[in-house]
Amino acid sequence: MVKICCLGAGYVGGPTMAVIALKCPAIEVVVVDISTARIAAWNSDQLPIYEPGLDDVVKQCRGRNLFFSTDIERHVAEADIIFVSVNTPTKSRGLGAGKAADLTYWESAARMIADVSKSDKIVVEKSTVPVKTAEAIEKILTHNSNGVRFQILSNPEFLAEGTAVQDLFNPDRVLIGGRETREGRAAVQRLKQVYAHWVPEDRILTTNLWSAELSKLAANAFLAQRISSVNAISALCEATGADVSEVAYAVGRDSRIGPKFLGASVGFGGSCFQKDILNLVYICECHRLSEVADYWRQVIRINDYQKSRFVNRVVASMFNTVSGKKIAVLGFAFKKDTGDTRETPAIDVCNGLLRDRAAVTVYDPQVTEEQIRRDLAGRETASQVAVAPDAYSATRGAHGVCILTEWDEFKSLDFAKIYGGMEKPAFVFDGRNVVDAGKLRDIGFIVYSIGKPLDAWLKDLPPV
Ligand code: NAI
Repeated sequence: MVKICCLGAGYVGGPTMAVIALKCPAIEVVVVDISTARIAAWNSDQLPIYEPGLDDVVKQCRGRNLFFSTDIERHVAEADIIFVSVNTPTKSRGLGAGKAADLTYWESAARMIADVSKSDKIVVEKSTVPVKTAEAIEKILTHNSNGVRFQILSNPEFLAEGTAVQDLFNPDRVLIGGRETREGRAAVQRLKQVYAHWVPEDRILTTNLWSAELSKLAANAFLAQRISSVNAISALCEATGADVSEVAYAVGRDSRIGPKFLGASVGFGGSCFQKDILNLVYICECHRLSEVADYWRQVIRINDYQKSRFVNRVVASMFNTVSGKKIAVLGFAFKKDTGDTRETPAIDVCNGLLRDRAAVTVYDPQVTEEQIRRDLAGRETASQVAVAPDAYSATRGAHGVCILTEWDEFKSLDFAKIYGGMEKPAFVFDGRNVVDAGKLRDIGFIVYSIGKPLDAWLKDLPPV
């Protein structure tokens, strides 16, 4: 029986390994983590992450050929293939601070693998890492190997949170990069055989190591760029009276462009886009490609601009002050169908409102109060934050509502009821273009939708 061990039981490691275990009953998969709390949650009925369909997959194979454990060294020693799916955040201090990837977790994982391995291993980079990380990892492993041979593969993950299980069941492609040696090619084939249990062969791409590493950074940069592109156009739509949904639809009908990822919004979030673009920018700078670095940096700048533009719209519409006014924030996760709040635009929007002394009440169907308070922790503003158990109590007595995540339930809220409980004039600022603005206007709301023709109320205000 082939044994797989995965270091890191997070948003990527957990779902990916659960799907491998489901699709490959003859493979034993053990997911290990340094966080005992996370492993305990994976072994409980309350999984540590919310992902549609994940509970079912885990229930089917946990205890059969899928295990979650904190006994890291034992399972690494026993494994044939080791996936490393640890976090790779942006460095917060030292050389490359604010841009470069922090590979501390990766390096300590690699040193531990070298220490405990007694048999040859295939080590798979699942984390998103800077180009040439495999080379560094290879050096750490071979210099500490005691004669054990390691093959390093890059197998970046392309799943999206919120649709992780579907993405894993039916990936557009699986990418495997390896050394172009006999041993390297053999290792690539072994990993390919794992995915071939359910992924059609023509969707399993094999490349050299560096192409695989760079493809992941480039794919995230391209995706984020589409969002910033349409968000940049949304500002122009508001200034001219064009409607960004109509423009995006017309643009996306061009088969060379395509319709996906063209929804204007308050901005992108998540743990990956910003971090991976910063990482790309840093790599470009290291290679003295400052024009290329500036090009990609602009994708992040537009994202920051879009968030502050939204806050400015809220404040400007409400007589230039939100001080002491209750603002209901509906949605805090960075997108629907996940409870993940890493880099969510809601943090920057809430902080902007809090700085203007608003009383912010947040409701999100999947994010806990504890998490919201942690994300908005600031000494002076903590007392201005409240968390509500549902959208109706969040909006009661509010002057304005900001919709910051596109949760389906927000589309079917009883807005007449909400309007009845709010201060007047009552405002809705739709940061995801999910509500029917016409219907809300008929109820009596003043509505701002990103990139859409402005209400007379907003039109008379100075341009944002
Ligand atoms: P995460 O933070 O949810 O999970 C990482 C886990 O690794 C944590 O539970 C941590 O305790 C554990 N860990 C750290 N050092 C360890 C060690 N030495 N041994 C064992 N466990 C260790 O991170 P997430 O979101 O799963 O991301 C992991 C990697 O995958 C990152 O590089 C990310 O860029 C990449 N990625 C993330 C995607 C996403 O949608 N979240 C999608 C594609 C790639």
